[in-house]
Amino acid sequence: MRSTFESVLAARLSRRRFLKGAARGAAAGLMVLHGGQHPWLRSAIAAPAVGFTPVPGSREDRIVLPPGYAHTVLLRWGDPLAEGVPEFNPMQQTSAKQALQFGYNCDYVAYLPLPRGSGSSSRGLLVVNHETVPSEMIWPGWDRRNTSKTADMVETEIAGHGMSVVEVVRGSRGEWSYVRNSPFNRRITGDTPFSIRGPAIGHPLMQSTASGGILVRGTLNNCAGGTTPWGTVLSGEENFQNYFQGRVQDLPDPALRALHRRYGVGTARYGWERFHDRFDLMKDPHEPNRFGWIVEVDPYDPRSTPVKHTALGRFAHEGAETILSRNGHVVAYMGDDARYEYIYKFVSAGRYDPGDRGANMRLLENGTLYAARFHEDGTGAWLPLVAGQGALVAADGLGSQAEVVINARRAADLVGATRMDRPEDVQANPMTGKVYCVMTSNDRRRPDEVDKANPRANNQFGHIIELSEANGDHAATGFRWEMFILGGDPKNPAHGAFYQGRTDVSVMANPDNLAFDGAGRMWIGTDGMEGTLGVHEGAFVVETEGALRGRTRRFLSAPAAGEVTGPALTPDDRTLFVAIQHPGRTSGAVYERPGSRWPDNRPDMPPRPSVLAIYREDGGKVGE
Ligand code: FEO
Ligand code: CA
Ligand code: CA
Repeated sequence: MRSTFESVLAARLSRRRFLKGAARGAAAGLMVLHGGQHPWLRSAIAAPAVGFTPVPGSREDRIVLPPGYAHTVLLRWGDPLAEGVPEFNPMQQTSAKQALQFGYNCDYVAYLPLPRGSGSSSRGLLVVNHETVPSEMIWPGWDRRNTSKTADMVETEIAGHGMSVVEVVRGSRGEWSYVRNSPFNRRITGDTPFSIRGPAIGHPLMQSTASGGILVRGTLNNCAGGTTPWGTVLSGEENFQNYFQGRVQDLPDPALRALHRRYGVGTARYGWERFHDRFDLMKDPHEPNRFGWIVEVDPYDPRSTPVKHTALGRFAHEGAETILSRNGHVVAYMGDDARYEYIYKFVSAGRYDPGDRGANMRLLENGTLYAARFHEDGTGAWLPLVAGQGALVAADGLGSQAEVVINARRAADLVGATRMDRPEDVQANPMTGKVYCVMTSNDRRRPDEVDKANPRANNQFGHIIELSEANGDHAATGFRWEMFILGGDPKNPAHGAFYQGRTDVSVMANPDNLAFDGAGRMWIGTDGMEGTLGVHEGAFVVETEGALRGRTRRFLSAPAAGEVTGPALTPDDRTLFVAIQHPGRTSGAVYERPGSRWPDNRPDMPPRPSVLAIYREDGGKVGE
């Protein structure tokens, strides 16, 4: 048996080597044709953008990958993250178990090598966000008014939020498993203590009945994120407004009413306030101010206290992807994911020191926050949000930097930032330095509200803007920009789609999360294509430079109702981690009647949000 298997494998490998060699020759010819001047093109000679057969749009209730690819379902909601935790049983779920299990609705995924600094692509830590816990998908017999929830059901939902840190290892065939008893494994939940740092620490608006504005219990609605050069993970608290209940109009302080209205606070959907006063606006009116931040977690130290970084502003944070400026300042790019909200960046005052991790971990406490203005002529400006400067004055409640960061949306309103179509991931391509800004959609934009950076009324399909900082310096305050992709079908004139003039593309819409591989290719996860294109969500690969610039290829199709999140690659580009969020949550779905039972596909098991490890059966780089 073994020798037969090995001979088949050897034959397959030699065939692939031949095909790869032929492709490389063809790519080298292409480079001669185009001059081969750009550094990215030179590197592309060693990593030709040929390869996999794109997956067609699908409505199959499974993971669809190109031929030659395989995947491991690596971590599922409910998987035990410590020895002694019983196997997941959805009919016997408790808060004590959930606090030691992988959480619900996995979103951002980061891979950090073990040991730290090793660059290992076969052993590492996965850090995963758990954005939401839809009650109707986890509780049998749940009623929509939340009145059937017990105290422990609420604690279970709080424990299902937050983040997981899990040690993972690659096996000999490219498959992955997680280490159940790793000392690195950790759950951070809606109840974990966080330190507040930066300009808003201790400010009266950050004080609650339980805290003087220095500590907070928990992180909520963690959506996308980023990693830092010093090996920590950033995570965005996105739709925090969904957890706090109360009549904003009944609060006595008009400034606080205006603040909460600007952030949409007061429309909780979980009923947690029935058991916790901190989620009741009438009892703890400042508690929402303590959410909506970028948090930083050191996954290499499981006992560390995570931090909320107020210098990076408070809004519906999608994520925060960092890169170093020319002079070593840390720059974090960020989107505020709501209709008509803004794109931001933060530039640290201090500089990165590769030899001083402790100092690096304080860099995000002090710096300048900016909001983006996109001019019609293809230039743009980063507008500083600094208390006392320009329109940001005490008379408007923005006299201190604490007030500016707590009410960052108001500050960005006043400086005249550009109102965007739901900014999601904003991330620099490390190969070129160009920054990609993802807008997922805006179905409310009216024809009289379009501008060049948001050029479609009723933007169903979303778009991606390419931004080049002045002099290639990420600390610059000026930039140039152009449209990279307008989602939709380029062969359907009604969509107004644009893929750099191409039509040989996999039709893509509603981009959300981004990652870049070592060859500078962009990986995109989508959220919304079921509604706009009638196919399941996908992962796409896009060339950003060269002759194939703008060509999208669908790499993955998700199970029913599953949003494709992550994505993340190992340093060697041989494994792609992707998360599937809210599988089976079709319209009207409840625990008893889900739209899918992926990944277990058992009649007694609900759908389970999960992280996949995807690899090539021949061990090559994914996406090539
Ligand atoms: Fe949680 Fe903007 O996606
Ligand atoms: Ca997202
Ligand atoms: Ca990203």
